[in-house]
Amino acid sequence: MQITSFKQYEEDYKKSIENPEQFWGEVAQNFQWKKPWFKVLSWNFNEPDIKWFEGAKLNITENCLDRHLEKNGDKPAIIWEPNNPEEESVTLTYKMLHERVCRFANVLKRNGAKKGDRICIYMPMVPELAIAVLACARIGAVHSVIFGGFSAKSIADRINDSQCKLVITADGAYRGNKQIPLKDVIDDALIGCPTVEKCIVLTHVRTPVSMLKGRDVWWEDEVKHVNDICEAEEMDAEDMLFILYTSGSTGKPKGVVHTCGGYMVYAGYTFTNVFNYQPGEVYFCTADIGWITGHSYIVYGPLSQGATSVLFEGIPTYPNASRFWDIVEKHKVNTLYTAPTAIRSLMSFGEEPLQGKDLSSIRVLGSVGEPINEEAWHWFDEKIGHGKAPIVDTWWQTETGGIMISPIATVTPTKPSYATLPLPGIQPILVDENGKEIEGNGVSGNLCIKFPWPGMLRTTYGDHERCKQTYFSTYENLYFTGDGCLRDEDGYYRITGRVDDVLNVSGHRIGTAEVENAINMHAGVVESAVVGYPHDVKGQGIYAFVINPEMHGEAELTKKDILQTVTRVIGAIAKPDKILFVSGLPKTRSGKIMRRILRKIAEGDTANLGDTSTLLDPGVVEEIIAASKALK
Ligand code: PRX
Repeated sequence: MQITSFKQYEEDYKKSIENPEQFWGEVAQNFQWKKPWFKVLSWNFNEPDIKWFEGAKLNITENCLDRHLEKNGDKPAIIWEPNNPEEESVTLTYKMLHERVCRFANVLKRNGAKKGDRICIYMPMVPELAIAVLACARIGAVHSVIFGGFSAKSIADRINDSQCKLVITADGAYRGNKQIPLKDVIDDALIGCPTVEKCIVLTHVRTPVSMLKGRDVWWEDEVKHVNDICEAEEMDAEDMLFILYTSGSTGKPKGVVHTCGGYMVYAGYTFTNVFNYQPGEVYFCTADIGWITGHSYIVYGPLSQGATSVLFEGIPTYPNASRFWDIVEKHKVNTLYTAPTAIRSLMSFGEEPLQGKDLSSIRVLGSVGEPINEEAWHWFDEKIGHGKAPIVDTWWQTETGGIMISPIATVTPTKPSYATLPLPGIQPILVDENGKEIEGNGVSGNLCIKFPWPGMLRTTYGDHERCKQTYFSTYENLYFTGDGCLRDEDGYYRITGRVDDVLNVSGHRIGTAEVENAINMHAGVVESAVVGYPHDVKGQGIYAFVINPEMHGEAELTKKDILQTVTRVIGAIAKPDKILFVSGLPKTRSGKIMRRILRKIAEGDTANLGDTSTLLDPGVVEEIIAASKALK
């Protein structure tokens, strides 16, 4: 199923459009099924109701583990690189990983988990995180991984939304020179989570933690009570595999649901093709398993293809800005898949951290999560790839399950800052605001997808209507991505950014409404408006306009109080970079905040504010502009 020439890409693409069922049916033959499907695809975007490989039975862990044992059992599946470079890295072969997943799957059963139960995972980037994820899949439980940067309140909201029965966590996590008390955060969260019966705690940093009798058990004790034989649960292709919460333009984060069969086929197919993965190579994705990139391209995609996946606990700048390059050299990494924000941050340290580092193993480079600016693209190409490693700029989303628009390494000619062409099976179209298709090249519009693909979301957990409203109602019969996009004269796609009220801060997706709600929870704040602005390293920064709150002490102190509130309500990743206190917000006569104006002010582009005549009080704009100029 690996594409090796541009001609083959064109042929496969054509086939995938003319006869999608035949195309995906053939791709799916490369996986292991317990029972075959009777229908490859049935779909309706209005409901939406999408089914792939109907009637088929499988377990994704048999594809990620068991099927490699005979020939590749001793091959490394996961290489773990700890936060502290002085500590030993750990290699788990496919045999070892299989054994540990089965054993921990039995621990889950012993603690009452069964097929269909939801299990929350809040862990550091350690091998046990991948083991926990796969153990859930082994027994047919649905995992909901939460990134370690979210607060207790965010965790509680997610646990309650999907009514998790179990939580898997660790005492704490290392992140650079910081320690994060994961169990403490979970303890705070669980005060408000009546559905959680058990909490399994891994010892990692060995910090003191409270262990509640009857609820909390240690991972290390539990594994002693079970053996390592666990037959994989037979799952329907359309049974739920996992839930992953993501932010939108309104309300609380929603639980994006992916199912077993289609997701597996899509993650595996895209992994092997986009990165042109070759047997025996070492592949390093720097994302966290708490995000979709980690799910699809640290765990399921690579392991389904028998690859060696590096799992890194730390951050790019600890103990110094050479860390990524040291890892590349140490483990002879062939593919490095990272985010533009990491590239920009490392660029800012200059060339010194690269001195003497052997990067000659690198064959393919990848970028994900946000638009990559040309400067960062060229730096990545020249300094890291030495002009010889193709860069795959991969566009996709939590909802798409896998990469959608991207070069295929060694096959597709690349162009700086372009995601280039759709992968086989993907039918992107650009539409205007009325949903009318914009045809031809040299055009731009809102990016939609007009035909289903196996890895697409099926619903949003517990609220199918929300899935329909968010993705399938803006334009009839189309999946709406929320992204703006241009298609150049060569038919190449370039993603220009979100067209809704979703921010992309350091590759993290954050809804402006969520941040506003968090700010407004601070006592003394009456109202606020949040917009994004261009940020050199983060891509976008968060700019909050807050109507003069009641102050206790100096304004700067009140700002810090507000940041603290946001950290409590969402997590540190959502803290505004700038807070401006104002006496009013620009509103229309019907009371709607004109964010367009605030965005311009945040960007510093105050000369082109456009029409302000519909504002209730145009004077407020002058005041905000003056105040914004005084803000550093
Ligand atoms: O705006 C797009 C941006 O990230 C959004 C999806 O965020 P999330 O669901 O968190 O998934 C991130 C990892 C897949 C998209 O709507 N985005 C993602 N990749 C790119 C991108 N923007 C431009 N270029 C990309 N390669």
